[in-house]
Amino acid sequence: MIGFFDLFARPLLRALDPEQAHSLAIKALKLAPRSRPAEDDPRLAVHAFGLKFPNPVGIAAGFDKHGEVPDALLHLGFGSVEIGSVTPLPQPGNPKPRLFRLEPDQGVINRLGFNSEGEAAVLARLAARADRGGIVGINLGANKESRDRGQDYVHLIERVAPLASYISVNISSPNTPKLRDLQHAAVLDDLLARIVEKRDLVIDRAGPTPVLLKISPDLSLAQLDDVVGIARARGIDGMIIGNTTVLRQDWLRDQKTAKEPGGLSGRPLFPLATRMLAETYVRVEGAFPLVGVGGIDSGKTALAKIKAGADLLQVYSSLVFKALGLIAEIKAELVDALDRGEADELSDLVGVDAAAMTAEPWPE
Ligand SMILES: Cc1cc2nc3c(=O)[nH]c(=O)nc-3n(C[C@H](O)[C@H](O)[C@H](O)COP(=O)(O)O)c2cc1C
Repeated sequence: MIGFFDLFARPLLRALDPEQAHSLAIKALKLAPRSRPAEDDPRLAVHAFGLKFPNPVGIAAGFDKHGEVPDALLHLGFGSVEIGSVTPLPQPGNPKPRLFRLEPDQGVINRLGFNSEGEAAVLARLAARADRGGIVGINLGANKESRDRGQDYVHLIERVAPLASYISVNISSPNTPKLRDLQHAAVLDDLLARIVEKRDLVIDRAGPTPVLLKISPDLSLAQLDDVVGIARARGIDGMIIGNTTVLRQDWLRDQKTAKEPGGLSGRPLFPLATRMLAETYVRVEGAFPLVGVGGIDSGKTALAKIKAGADLLQVYSSLVFKALGLIAEIKAELVDALDRGEADELSDLVGVDAAAMTAEPWPE
């Protein structure tokens, strides 16, 4: 299935408008035959937040925003799927065009602005597949027009907890005006307190759903100090580093497309996101696991993320430019690293380079 898709469908998808290509890819996955993926090497299993991930390679939020194809994605060999962002009410997002490829840079700019079918539609789909297992996280967003965005998250926690393997709180999308202000210390402390309180209130019904905080790679280090301190104090289960960046490096080759407003992801994000991951790792001091995301496009970059501090990985943009064989390529590189004696277990490699990375000059 992967071979067929890579050979025939990808060149076609690349020729299309990016958003049309995305909806075609979702349609193709809906129709794809469900062959069981090959069993993962047991050394790839990751235990984190009380969950057992069969392998560390997940698909990041934003690909399956509406929970349409979690099982097809799991069958492609991903160890986990993050659905969303899901908002309480349906909303259309920003006007099109709002998704752009920077071909020569292998980057993507999006300003989708939380286009969501809303919690009711997404939860109905997830309820219908609930007995199929697999790790399916749900990423939460707030409605643009909401008068109390914090309350949107608190409300969603209660609704999604029974169906989510884990919940990720996305307060780092650059495409909803002022959303990232929720990362400011006083606001964040109050928000996380309310979120954890609500999660604990529904434990009887939903089980102990882990709550992860997804942050922006554009935080200053002083802001990161605050965010990590608050996440630790409030008993958050993990952090995802990170979302897309609003920065535009002057070395980007497609400077014309780079002028489009929105969040940049893919290869150009790798240096910044990986540095922020290392900075987070040294501040978290092992209090909880981290998910490394941003610019992973090979086995080598995946291994570098683990060494920067990631227990788990997520990919998205590189799937636009590379074949789906990338998932197997990443897993093979991680197994190779163990076979060539870099460590006995993957977990021994987590964060080994973090301290050294934080001493390097800030990535341009
Ligand atoms: C088209 C697109 C849509 C996205 N939508 C979301 C979203 O709804 N919620 C979210 O938390 N992150 C979203 N993201 C961010 C990704 O989850 C990820 O954090 C980011 O793209 C960096 O990873 P990458 O370089 O592998 O793409 C989106 C990214 C892209 C490219």
